[in-house]
Amino acid sequence: MPTIVLSGATGFLGAHLMARMLSAGVAVLALTRGTPAFAGRRLVRALHFAGLPAAGHFLQTGQLRVVPADLHRQQLGAEPPVFQQLADEADEIWHSAACTDLQAPWEVVSQVNVDGTRRMLHLAAAGRRRPRFVHISTAFVAGGRPTGMIGADALDASHGFLTPYEESKYHAEQLVRAWAAEGRRALVLRPSTLLSDRPPGLRGPRHPHAALRLKLNRLAAHGPHALAQRFGLAPDAEGNVQIRLPGRPDSLINLTPVEYAADAMIRLARADSAPGTTTHHVVHPADTPLAHWLGAMAANAPWVRTRIVGHLPDPTSLETFVASLLPGSDRYSYHRRHYERTALDLAEQRDGAAAPPALDATYLKAALSSPARPTTPLHSGI
Ligand SMILES: NC(=O)c1ccc[n+]([C@@H]2O[C@H](COP(=O)([O-])OP(=O)(O)OC[C@H]3O[C@@H](n4cnc5c(N)ncnc54)[C@H](OP(=O)(O)O)[C@@H]3O)[C@@H](O)[C@H]2O)c1
Repeated sequence: MPTIVLSGATGFLGAHLMARMLSAGVAVLALTRGTPAFAGRRLVRALHFAGLPAAGHFLQTGQLRVVPADLHRQQLGAEPPVFQQLADEADEIWHSAACTDLQAPWEVVSQVNVDGTRRMLHLAAAGRRRPRFVHISTAFVAGGRPTGMIGADALDASHGFLTPYEESKYHAEQLVRAWAAEGRRALVLRPSTLLSDRPPGLRGPRHPHAALRLKLNRLAAHGPHALAQRFGLAPDAEGNVQIRLPGRPDSLINLTPVEYAADAMIRLARADSAPGTTTHHVVHPADTPLAHWLGAMAANAPWVRTRIVGHLPDPTSLETFVASLLPGSDRYSYHRRHYERTALDLAEQRDGAAAPPALDATYLKAALSSPARPTTPLHSGI
């Protein structure tokens, strides 16, 4: 039974990767924070979320093992013999853990995403089986580049970065390339924004848009009149509240179902074993119009009318407030770029596998909206 050391198994994507590895009969050593008992419960919950209910037996049989590890600490916090034993057991190392907080400052994200990746590479370098390193990056290493086709091999800082997170993932990829250039094998997989139309469960991992969606739902739960009053606006003649967002009306975003992304990663990993670094985008073949994303985000408040405008020189207080819920996100709404996915197309052709259809309104609504929460006073914060 091959053995994979996996970081980030409790995460939104990591849970799906772990589920697929275990289902394929791979032994998984899950690097996890917290006590082994607590981490074990979280892993089982993550597997349940990823579609593997009653997953406790993987722990009981030892096919899934909890390995305490913290990316913040030298040697992941392990004593040297334990670190060496872990390295020696690995046929592959999959590094999915990251600080994915788009608002976090550089000092925070770089410790996990840059220094943490360096520590994972040390682990891989120490392994006597010379494990391949599979690094989960992001399509957003393309940074501020607004348009054009981004090649799978492109790693270019010339457009700058819109968040410290993007920049940290760019530096992590550079570390991986330098590591593999010393006669080793690395596979870099770059997903776009991931989401799922399956309900997350109360304490399961959540996709990055879920927090924004909850905030918007709390806002929407007040209804058009209370909301308009709070922000000093008047609903229009039909009782609707208008919200404009700055951006390109024809802006596109790439949204990929997490289940498909995990399948695609396993598929790409099966195909690849070349020396050096191989990099692939793991993206949806059809980009989603930003306007459709917006419509789904506002689906619980049909009385909100959203509109994308080229410039917004005089935002209302409500528009300013909505923008503050995800600061800086408006910069993405000027993007209309595509990501090369040649290798994934070929791998799917080879396996006779289908790429998912374009994400329609039903999918987006299931993934991005949720039942409105009970009303809480507006002054309590959103
Ligand atoms: N989700 C997306 O839309 C998306 C898009 C593009 C790329 N990616 C990339 O895909 C990978 C997986 O993302 P995800 O959605 O699964 O992220 P996530 O849900 O935020 O999970 C992050 C994972 O990293 C772990 N982690 C964070 N800090 C750690 C530390 N100091 N030590 C050990 N583990 C730590 C977390 O452990 P705890 O559970 O203990 O916190 C969790 O398992 C990341 O590399 C991310 O950059 C994600």
